[in-house]
Amino acid sequence: MTLVPMNLSDQIRDIPDFPKPGIVFKDISPLLANREALTEAIRVMAEPYRANPPEAVLAVEARGFLFAVPLALELGCGVVLVRKPGKLPAATRSVEYALEYGNDMLEMHADALTPGQKVLIVDDVLATGGTVAACADLARNAGAEVTAAAFLIELTFLNGRDKLGDLPVTAALTY
Ligand code: PRP
Repeated sequence: MTLVPMNLSDQIRDIPDFPKPGIVFKDISPLLANREALTEAIRVMAEPYRANPPEAVLAVEARGFLFAVPLALELGCGVVLVRKPGKLPAATRSVEYALEYGNDMLEMHADALTPGQKVLIVDDVLATGGTVAACADLARNAGAEVTAAAFLIELTFLNGRDKLGDLPVTAALTY
């Protein structure tokens, strides 16, 4: 499901040639700086999950954190961090993934999720889908059930959903 309030798209600005020539970066800074827009973004992102809320939100570093915490509070659950390597203090499980601009690795605390726990992945942008696919692998490797993935923005022309099988995906804004 995709919900597209016009006032939200007004709060996203295009930055040409970032982080490299030919890429038009969707900058969420204006939305983050605007209380009404940020509140509306969280409300729209939460809407599809109110009837059947997750038991945990999986938050993707770094910009995913900004949306994961208010969304989890809105849905009545806590947050599990997925971080870039070397940031988490306790024992971790890790997964390699391909990003829109390169390769990287993500980590989660090994004891962060329990078997069968229903998990919603939250990030700011769905681009190629490599990041969220890696997060889904991390959660499933821990025995959790990934129920859906929620984004502020989906870049549909990058076909990120193709990497996600039948995982339900929602986005407040699509381009
Ligand atoms: C960005 C974005 C998503 C990811 C989407 O993260 O926040 O996490 O890319 O790309 P994908 O669908 O192609 O995998 P990035 O690591 O660039 O930046 P951040 O740490 O500032 O969030």
